[in-house]
Amino acid sequence: MNGRSLLVTCGLPYTNGPCHLGHLRTYVPADFFVRYMRRKGNNVTFICGSDNHGTPVVVSAEKEGVTPRELCERFHTHFYETFRRMNVVFDHFGMTDNPVNHHRTRSLVQTLIDKGYVYPEIVKQCYCTKCQRFLPDRYVEGTCPHCGAIARGDECDQGCGKHLEPGEIKNPTCTVCGTKSEFRDQEHFFFKLSEFKDFLKDYLPKLKGTQNARNYSLGWVNDSLHDWCITRTLDWGVKFPGRSDLVVYVWVDAPIGYIAFTEEWAKENGKDWQDLWCRENGEVIHFIGGDIVYHHCIFWPALLKGAGYNLPDAVVASGMLKVDDHKFSKSRGYVVWTNEDYLDSGLSSDYLRYYLLAYTSHTKELNFSWSAFQERINNELVNILGNFTYRTLSIANSKFGGIPEGEVSEEILAKIRETISIVDSAMNEYDFKFTVDSIMGLAAFGNNYIQTNEPWKLIKKDKNEASLVILNCLQLVKALTILIEPLIPDLAQGLWEQMGCEDTVSDSHIPETGIQLKAGGLKNPTILFHKIDDEMVQKLSDTLSERVKIADKKSLKEELVNIDDFHRLDIKIGKILSAEAVPKSTKLLKLMVDIGEEVRQIVSGISQFYSTDDLVGKHVVVLVNLAPAKIFGIESRGMILAAGDEASLLIPLRDVENGTKIR
Ligand code: MF3
Ligand code: ZN
Repeated sequence: MNGRSLLVTCGLPYTNGPCHLGHLRTYVPADFFVRYMRRKGNNVTFICGSDNHGTPVVVSAEKEGVTPRELCERFHTHFYETFRRMNVVFDHFGMTDNPVNHHRTRSLVQTLIDKGYVYPEIVKQCYCTKCQRFLPDRYVEGTCPHCGAIARGDECDQGCGKHLEPGEIKNPTCTVCGTKSEFRDQEHFFFKLSEFKDFLKDYLPKLKGTQNARNYSLGWVNDSLHDWCITRTLDWGVKFPGRSDLVVYVWVDAPIGYIAFTEEWAKENGKDWQDLWCRENGEVIHFIGGDIVYHHCIFWPALLKGAGYNLPDAVVASGMLKVDDHKFSKSRGYVVWTNEDYLDSGLSSDYLRYYLLAYTSHTKELNFSWSAFQERINNELVNILGNFTYRTLSIANSKFGGIPEGEVSEEILAKIRETISIVDSAMNEYDFKFTVDSIMGLAAFGNNYIQTNEPWKLIKKDKNEASLVILNCLQLVKALTILIEPLIPDLAQGLWEQMGCEDTVSDSHIPETGIQLKAGGLKNPTILFHKIDDEMVQKLSDTLSERVKIADKKSLKEELVNIDDFHRLDIKIGKILSAEAVPKSTKLLKLMVDIGEEVRQIVSGISQFYSTDDLVGKHVVVLVNLAPAKIFGIESRGMILAAGDEASLLIPLRDVENGTKIR
C-alpha cells in the first residue's frame, strides 16, 4: 500500500519511578494515532525508549544505594511491560544509555562543534562545600529568579514553569545535605540557540500537531532566546567530546535517543534510518507531555537544524492532569499508578484507553476521578457500544442463524462513509476526542436504528424486511469494530471473532468498513462489555484517599523546626487559683492562673473532663504568649496544655515555682 511514511515517537520516560496516569496521557493517544494511521494503510514506525541520564536518575539511585544503570534497567523493563499491558505497542523501545545513543549523541554534538555552534564559557555554578562537588540541576533547590517560587536547579516546576540555566537559581541549597551552596567559576559549553531565532520564527508556524505546542513556542521565540548550557559536571551520562569531566545535558542526549532508537530498529529490520532523519522520505511526529514543549519545539529543532538532520513535522502535546481536583503530585499522593492501582485490580486496559481519549480533549487539562471514570465507561462504552453490538449479534445469531443474505441499504453505507470522513479529518487535526465522539455517534445511531425497527418483532410480520434490518446492523457492527480497534483493541478483537472472522482486526483497513458482509455463521455471542461496579470504584477511591492521608502525615513529620522556632514559644508553669463554668457553654471553664509575675485569665475547653474542685491548686503548663482571644465574650490570654482528646493535663513531675520557664 502506498501510504505516508510516518515515524511516531513518545516522550521518553525517566527511569526513576513507575508508570502513572500522567505518562498514559501521552502514550495512549500516540498508540491510538499509530493504530489508526496503520488502519488507513500508512507505513508507521512507532518508537520510544527510556530516558536514563540526568540528575533525577542519579539522585534516586543514590538514595536506593544501587548504580544508576541498575535502576535504569529495572524501570526500563517496568515501562516496557506496563506499556504492553496497556496495549501500547512500540516497534522499538530503546535505552538512552545504550551504545548507539552514546555514539549518535557524540557525533551530533561534534557536528555542532565543527559548525561553530558550540562555544566554551566560564560560568558561575552552584557548588556544595560540604559535599565538595558542583551541583547540577536537581542537586540544587532554591527560588526561581523569574517568579520567586521554590524551584529545582533547572526548572521552575512549581511556579512559572520556566527552564533555568545553571547559575540562575537564587538562594541555592544542596538537595543532598541541605547546606547553602555557593557559586564557583567553571568552564562549560554553550549551544548558540540565539542564532536560531529567525529559523524558528519561520519553522514554527508551519509545524503541525496541536495548537498548544505551536502557540506556546511561538510566544517564547518572539520573547527572547538565550544560548543554552549543554554540559554538566556529572559522571553519569554521555561524555562531552574531548572532556572526560563533563557529560552533555540530559536534554541533549534524550531527544537524540529518538534517532538512535530509529537506528537500532532499522538495523533489526533491514531498513535505513537515514530515510527518516536525513532524507525527508517520511514525516516525524512527536507525542509529548505539555510540560516539555519548550524542549521539543525550541531546543530540539535548533539542534537538528544546526547538525543538518531532518526536522520534526508535528508535535502533539497533551494537557495537564489533575486527580480529584488537585494538581497531580506523587509526593502529595494525588497519583494513579498504572499497575498497582489500575491493571492489578483486574480492570481492562481498554477502559482506561477509552476514558483517556473520550473524557476530554487530550490537549486540555484532565481532572481525573474514579467516579467520573465509572460513569463514562458504564454510560457510554457499555450502554451504547456494548449494548448495540451485543443485541445485534445475539439477535442475528438466535433469530437469523448468523449473517443473512441480502444487500446492505445505501442509507447505512452512507452513514458509515460520513462517519469515516469526519473521523479522517479529525485525525488529521489530532482531535482525538472528536474522533471518538464521532465513532460513538455511529454506535448511538445503530442503537437507535435497531430500537426503532425492532427486528425481533418485525420478523413475525415480514421476515425479509427483518433480515435486512439485522444485516444493516451487522454492517454497522463491522464498521464499528474496525473503527474502534485503535481505541480499544482487545474489545475490538473480541467483537471481530464473534463476527466469525478468523484473522485479527488489527490487520484490517478502514475501507473494509464499506465492504458488504458475506452471508454466513456467527460465533455464539457472549457479553464483552461489563459495567464497573460501585464496589470497585469505592475500593479505588479509598486507595487514593488513603494515599493522600499518608502523604499528609509524612509532610507534617518532615516539617522540622529549629531551636529558635521553639524559643519563640513562651511556656511556663502556672498554678490554677480558681475555676468557674462559663455560662451557656457546655465545655468551657474560666480559669485564673498564677504564672509568677501575674495572674492570667484563661478560657479552657475542659469542663467535660474536670470538675472545678479537681483543678484549683494544681500546677499546669501554660503557653503564655498566645495571642489573646475572646471566647464566649470572655477574654482569654494563654492556653493550658493538655494531651489527647480527653485533655489529660500536663503537670510537672517535681514541684517548681509558678512562672518557671519550660526549656
Ligand atoms: N524524560 C523526559 C521527561 O519525562 C522526557 C524526555 S523526551 C526526549 O520529561 F525528547 F528528551 F526524549
Ligand atoms: Zn518561576
